[in-house]
Amino acid sequence: KNIALVAGGYSGEYVISVQSAVTIEQNLDNEKYNVYKIIVTKDSWSYTGKDGVVTQVDKNDFSLTVNGEKIKFDAVFIGIHGTPGEDGRLQGYFEMLGIPFTSCGMVSSALTFNKSYCNKVVAALNVVKVSKSVHIFRDQPYNTGEILEKLRLPVFVKPAEGGSSIGMSKVKTAEELEPAIQKAFKEDSQVLVEEFIKGRELTMGLFKAGGKLTTLPITEILSSKEFFDYEAKYTPGITNEVTPAQIPDTLASRIQQTASALYNQLNCRGIVRIDFIYEDATGDLYFLEANTMPGQSENSLVPQQVRAAGMTLKDFYGTLLEECMK
Ligand code: DAL
Ligand code: MG
Repeated sequence: KNIALVAGGYSGEYVISVQSAVTIEQNLDNEKYNVYKIIVTKDSWSYTGKDGVVTQVDKNDFSLTVNGEKIKFDAVFIGIHGTPGEDGRLQGYFEMLGIPFTSCGMVSSALTFNKSYCNKVVAALNVVKVSKSVHIFRDQPYNTGEILEKLRLPVFVKPAEGGSSIGMSKVKTAEELEPAIQKAFKEDSQVLVEEFIKGRELTMGLFKAGGKLTTLPITEILSSKEFFDYEAKYTPGITNEVTPAQIPDTLASRIQQTASALYNQLNCRGIVRIDFIYEDATGDLYFLEANTMPGQSENSLVPQQVRAAGMTLKDFYGTLLEECMK
């Protein structure tokens, strides 16, 4: 079968995407699949052959012509974090062309990618707590004083659509709020200001195959930094990630049930990683975000969880691919 592995993208997560694609490519069964890695940027969607010849994708039907032979794809493994591979754009394109792909569909991808809209929908589902927040827009007036009347410090300021903590700040004093908002507006025209919840950071990947939802072991993130920022995420040794998390069974099953309900209610497909905060003081579980294109670099959370579940990455990626082609 011909499989396109798309990587790259237009966001600050380009580099992470390329790393994820390396792991995915290395672990796709090359006896079953002819894998063509396609790097998507703003101005080129290109495949580089073993001979170094670069071929551009024909966007009319997402095909490649290599050595005079036209290659059409049986499925696409999407490996792009951020736009346009995690926010519904490529999902909509492949849905229009009728080419199966490994991730959530267009609507679920777009919804979960916007942290602010996703929070509102998740809150309405009533299965987990969601931190109090304010959603602001670059082209609409806002008042930091009013934001601070609604929210208690510290707060997190995040680009509403983004990943890997790029453009994100933790704000502890009123004076820091406006600069943090400006920093986030550099990444996105919408910003989410959200109350900080003190607690344990727990995250779990889950995927559906053959009608069965499989939850992977939970990871606890023990960051020595102020929060799990870009550096803490990608510099080995800074963060201690414990898989499976050392938490009581009751909390683990609560997270499994909550994540499963969210996966189903948000109509997810493929592998999704949902991040939570468990507030020790109250025993409340908070939803942090749903990642529909979780990192797949060798040390990323989902590959750790897959290994901890006793699965190989080869079986895991094979399962995701076969499932989307059903
Ligand atoms: N946005 C990064 C890749 C993640 O969620 O793993
Ligand atoms: Mg994320």
